[in-house]
Amino acid sequence: MIKYLIQGGKPLEGEVVISGAKNAAVGILPATLLVDGVCKIENVPDISDVRLLLEILSDMGAIIRRQSPNVLEIDCSHVHDMVAPMELVRRIRASYYLIGAQLGRFRHAQVALPGGCNFGPRPIDQHIKGFEAMGAEVRQDGGFIFASAPDGCLPGGRVNLDVVSVGATMNIMIGAVLANGTTIIENAAKEPHIVDLANFLNSMGAKISGAGTDVIKVRGVRSLHGGFYSIIPDQIEAGTYMAAAAAVGGCVTVRNVIPKHLDCISAKLREMGAKVTEYDDAITVEKVRRLRRTHVKTMPYPGFPTDMQPQVGVCMALAQGTSIISEGIYDTRFRYCSELNRMGAAIQVDTKMAVVEGVEKLHGSVVKACDLRAGAAMVIAGLAADGQTTVEDAHYIERGYECFIDKLRALGADIRRIEAPDNPTKAKHAG
Ligand code: EPU
Repeated sequence: MIKYLIQGGKPLEGEVVISGAKNAAVGILPATLLVDGVCKIENVPDISDVRLLLEILSDMGAIIRRQSPNVLEIDCSHVHDMVAPMELVRRIRASYYLIGAQLGRFRHAQVALPGGCNFGPRPIDQHIKGFEAMGAEVRQDGGFIFASAPDGCLPGGRVNLDVVSVGATMNIMIGAVLANGTTIIENAAKEPHIVDLANFLNSMGAKISGAGTDVIKVRGVRSLHGGFYSIIPDQIEAGTYMAAAAAVGGCVTVRNVIPKHLDCISAKLREMGAKVTEYDDAITVEKVRRLRRTHVKTMPYPGFPTDMQPQVGVCMALAQGTSIISEGIYDTRFRYCSELNRMGAAIQVDTKMAVVEGVEKLHGSVVKACDLRAGAAMVIAGLAADGQTTVEDAHYIERGYECFIDKLRALGADIRRIEAPDNPTKAKHAG
């Protein structure tokens, strides 16, 4: 059990350097399976989801050298058609990218159904639809997905996604890169990490065009070669520190960001009364007054990201007036609201909508991180609250935020991490 102990009420002041994007990294790392040669990748975030994927690749035979905490060399040339270890795969959502990567490289794949943060049903039917459109045969059996290319041939094809899915768009791109023909993805997702994955694959010899629009064309090539790539900065990590400055108070500059990727977050915080100043690769957020109410509807990029909903939810909980959040991506992403209410927030949830009555103050309490972003929101709430807050199940937060505690402490936060055995009785016996 990992807990964070927070003494709230101190403003955040200073600069924070943003790490590489989690959701780009978790696509790019499995995609290295397609590459015949060494990929040197820079700006890889050192987070638990990435460590898990590296363990999976390494178990499959990849040679991985860490040149520094965020620079890796990965050589998958000698991986021989190994099934990814089930117990590791089940712990991470992004392991679904191994289906596309194995199918592309070996012409067949066997991957356990993925795990990940639990906010309602997270089907992968659109991934499967894409692989089938490319010519693969796919079936589910005993908790596994099996995919294969009849006679080793993946002709490619056209797929029109029924829902805009980040995972399906990236997985189909990965599967299509080494196909025998061309694949076209219509109604594709447009998130920055989709463009980043396409740029990574193109820099290794792939022929992908249209990434960042809703039609992506992947012309199959015979092989990919090694090369160098630097992952983009994490939009959501940056947005989290921006929301923290607005909710807690003070003045925070996020560095190493692409301000364009943060447009809708900057706009929302401005709308709420925070002072937001953009530079070439940095943004400063300053709280100059009590925040004002606003409304948010989460949507695929360039709309407001669902992954920022809980953090901005904390800003709304402390704003003047009544705000409304409509969740447009997931069925249930409001579990954090009952935790916030334990801290004095006044939020009512009705399935995919939350009505947030702003309060002047939150007070410290013992709360849980229900998932990664909900956990980050609890930390922001704890920093803004009077008194002490304990955030339990903080391991979720460590799936996606590099050096969260250190970065917050450098901004002046009073936060520390405690790690205790899950079940003390069991641990004692085991010892
Ligand atoms: N969906 C389907 N069928 C599919 C795939 C998705 O119905 O085959 C639905 C989902 O249920 C959801 C919507 O489509 O309602 C969008 O899901 P999407 O596929 O875009 O999400 P994902 O690939 O499972 C990624 C990120 C999430 C992020 C979402 C949305 C990774 C590993 N995960 O998930 O990140 O919330 O896109 O942007 O990239 C996070 O970082 O905290 C996180 C949860």
